[in-house]
Amino acid sequence: MGERQASGEAEKRICVLKFGSSVLGVEEDFPSAALEIYRHVRDGEKVVAVVSALAGETDSLLGQAERVGGEGDPALVARVARVGELHSAGLMALALGRLGLRACTLDPHEMGLVAEGEPLDSDLVALDAAIIHARLDSHEVVVVPGFTAVHREHGVVTLGRGGTDLSAVFFAARLDAHRVRLIKDVDGVYAEDPAKNPYAERYLALDYDLAAEVSTGLVQPKAIHAAKVENVLIEVASLGAGEATTIADVAARKALPARGRKLRVALLGCGAVGAGVLAHFNQWADLFELNPVLVRDPSGRAGGSGRFTADVEAALAGADLIVETMGGADFAADLLCPALRSGVHVVTANKAAVAKHYEALHACAKSGGAMLAYSAAVGGGVPILEALARLDGVVEVEGVMNGTVNYLLGRLAEGWRFDEALARAQELGFAEADPSADVDGDDAADKLSILVREALHVPLPPSRIGRQSLRDIPGDGAAQALARGETLKQVGRCRLLPGGGVEAEVRIVSLPLDHPLAGARNEENRFTVRTADGKARTLCGKGAGRWPTAASVFADVMDIQRALVLRSGDAQASEPALLRA
Ligand code: NDP
Ligand code: HSE
Repeated sequence: MGERQASGEAEKRICVLKFGSSVLGVEEDFPSAALEIYRHVRDGEKVVAVVSALAGETDSLLGQAERVGGEGDPALVARVARVGELHSAGLMALALGRLGLRACTLDPHEMGLVAEGEPLDSDLVALDAAIIHARLDSHEVVVVPGFTAVHREHGVVTLGRGGTDLSAVFFAARLDAHRVRLIKDVDGVYAEDPAKNPYAERYLALDYDLAAEVSTGLVQPKAIHAAKVENVLIEVASLGAGEATTIADVAARKALPARGRKLRVALLGCGAVGAGVLAHFNQWADLFELNPVLVRDPSGRAGGSGRFTADVEAALAGADLIVETMGGADFAADLLCPALRSGVHVVTANKAAVAKHYEALHACAKSGGAMLAYSAAVGGGVPILEALARLDGVVEVEGVMNGTVNYLLGRLAEGWRFDEALARAQELGFAEADPSADVDGDDAADKLSILVREALHVPLPPSRIGRQSLRDIPGDGAAQALARGETLKQVGRCRLLPGGGVEAEVRIVSLPLDHPLAGARNEENRFTVRTADGKARTLCGKGAGRWPTAASVFADVMDIQRALVLRSGDAQASEPALLRA
């Protein structure tokens, strides 16, 4: 997934996120950590993720070194001890790739990361920041192993226990990152142990000296000292949290933390997308209580009876939040509109419903004071709607916005038969339940209609958007284009006309290979957004498939959860006596 200006340097706002072994306990924790990174990328940040070894791995490596080598040479022990961080960095980059994020990892010697001192307790002294910046121009995330660096004399060293906090601060300082967020298993620095006192106050902000005193055991003292010297802003937060303790040159403030209640969720649909969303809900059982999941046919599903239902009433009962991944324009909208009107929040991936019933869904949300989110409806895992919301003066958007058709055109160019390529796209979970929606351009027209409303602020229903079907081009059209050095793409394009109207259509076009949209491979989507100041930005990433789409849906879910926690905090702040009762 990428966002960059078409010409010249990418616009970069870098944050450093640090994942210690309190949040990387086991292999299954990588997807949640990847979702945390996805959330920051979708907010427009480039991320440097500094990772620790999985919990217990460093101890196990040190134990192994001792068993094999006794009181061995510390420089050799360091070579063994650092392996856990390299391992985690590779796994994290893989987890991010599954979501469609462009992520790479660099070993210390590949980024000029140098330390001095004792082999098992060194201090970082140098980083070739230009190497990281160059990677961030072509990737959203650079994952780096904490705790280890290159040493001029010993070759490879480690930084001492808790060293990943220090690595993170060091990276932030050298990269001019606007903040470093240390992701812990607690949601900030508390004035007292919250496990012992449920009314313990949490610091909203702390200066460096007080932080060194009160965050012992939570943030490495060397890291706080380095942050003070380099003027780096630290946040201490938990996975998925909105709130954090800020450590900077600021006055200390503390308050009772806002505690949202568990949200009751109705998940409607458990197919290609819904099953991925369900897996994320299962990882966040402390925040959400799931009703039986609505499917057409619950028989024979794993997980026991009661987990799935075909009864709409049972699926919706008492829900605070509906997550809709069924598809179908009218049936879905008929469920969602009254729910929104009665104040139930909605997340949906359903572009057919959003495009056809856009005004009604928004009006119902407004009248019920409910939140409505549909990031996955356009771009799958590519946060195009969020990028548009950050831009003023958009005059044109064009894009490859249907993953299935892009996948089909790629296979057809390689000589596959249409029906075998389509069957494979269905197996991979890219195609709509009725794949003619993809093939005939209806799905792209739905997405374009949403883009016209969100980018150009013109209410254009999908029925008024012209479209061309893949069936209208000759069977060997994609292969012929390739033979002449071009590529066929299904492109949706909309632009503002001088009189205030819009032009929008979906067509199959032959593009030169150096065209910004030509590089979209397989199920990827790619968008070029032009603004009135003449600038063009291109975004790309996985536009279909379970994990990229589920990441986008779940990011909407977590945004709503955080907004509700914030609301409950505001309510609590205005009624402090009640809280303490
Ligand atoms: P699937 O066909 O794989 O899954 C649909 C699910 O919804 C199934 O579990 C199905 O039940 C259930 N369902 C469908 N209709 C009904 C109904 N009338 N009553 C009860 N349950 C119903 O679809 P996808 O997961 O691929 O897509 C879901 C939505 O996400 C669609 O709106 C799609 O456009 C959108 N989307 C899909 C993407 C993708 O890559 N696939 C990407 C972005 C958005 P059962 O299992 O019993 O059949
Ligand atoms: N069928 C759609 C596609 C799913 O292939 O693009 C993602 O919206």
